[in-house]
Amino acid sequence: MKILVLAGGFSPERNVSLSSGAMVCQALRDRGHQVALMDLFFGLDGAVDGENLYSAPIPDSFKRVARAAPDLEEVKARRGGDSPSAIGPGVLETCARAEVVFLALHGTCGEDGRIQAALDLLGVPYTGSGYLGSAIAMDKDLTKRLVAGKVKTPRWETVTVTEENIQELMEKTVLPAVVKPIASGSSIGVYIAKNQAELRRALESSICQGGRTVIEEYIRGREIQVAVLGDKALPSIEIIPREGFYDYANKYQPGAAHEVCPARISREWEKAIGDAALTVFRTIGLSVYARADFIVTQDGTPYFLEINTLPGMTPTSLVPQEAAAVGMDYGKLCETIIQISMEARKEGL
Ligand SMILES: Nc1ncnc2c1ncn2[C@@H]1O[C@H](COP(=O)(O)OP(=O)(O)O)[C@@H](O)[C@H]1O
Ligand SMILES: [Mg+2]
Repeated sequence: MKILVLAGGFSPERNVSLSSGAMVCQALRDRGHQVALMDLFFGLDGAVDGENLYSAPIPDSFKRVARAAPDLEEVKARRGGDSPSAIGPGVLETCARAEVVFLALHGTCGEDGRIQAALDLLGVPYTGSGYLGSAIAMDKDLTKRLVAGKVKTPRWETVTVTEENIQELMEKTVLPAVVKPIASGSSIGVYIAKNQAELRRALESSICQGGRTVIEEYIRGREIQVAVLGDKALPSIEIIPREGFYDYANKYQPGAAHEVCPARISREWEKAIGDAALTVFRTIGLSVYARADFIVTQDGTPYFLEINTLPGMTPTSLVPQEAAAVGMDYGKLCETIIQISMEARKEGL
């Protein structure tokens, strides 16, 4: 098949995405497909013709993710010019000439439904959920509101933090609490506040970032995530960071977190977590694949945190490990995602 892998993009998670994209591109080439890797934000960037990308080597530097998230102002300056477009030159034309676009994008500008809507309008099939489910899943507040009656999710409040209300929020927030941007990913901007000083720092950072913020009850328990592929839950995976919580560095530095797949939990727990992931997946209208994050308390209650519609496919990512637990290697997983996606697009999902 002729496959265009879209990665990068104007998102704080662009480096994670380039790592996912490089891995997906390599795996699909190894399986005999004609595959190109393109950065959504930079586009053709000087290359004469999109067809050249199909034989271009994959930069090795893409595979490893640096410890810190990139500075988007620097990324913008690197592209130069003053185009306000988040879509680089030649991207849509190159998409239109592919049989399918594999979305290896993460975060805003990729996972949030907007590129899915553009590809729908272009008439090009792409991988993963459609535009509406993607947009809902990107919004942690909306997702929680939709699923709250069906699965357990930590108590939360969604606010816009300002100089005026920060004191009131300090007084009424029960500690420990988690402070996170409404539409982030990869733990960027996520704070676990155990005391007043940490809470102040977290809320002040929300003022700087702008946008809405979710203040959530901290749940003590085991961190377990589960992927949905097609209409089934894969075996769950437990994450045990060596230090701190599952933040950006612990997510992408090899060896920083111990991952156990299948998670060593009882069959009842496994079923409860898998069922909760499927309920969320169906309630917000997702298709093809996704990965849901949970904290499971001592009594086995899974608390749903969020669901990712284009989960990571990097060397340290979790969905490939869950697929491997049912005997599906990385290349086969990529092909399966494409195959289920093609069916979903035909059905208008
Ligand atoms: N309510 C919570 N209780 C305990 N830990 C949490 C809670 N919310 C988030 N975390 C921790 O922060 C990490 C990132 O939060 P998450 O909601 O998954 O956002 P992101 O989209 O950035 O991955 C989680 O994997 C978990 O380790
Ligand atoms: Mg998460």
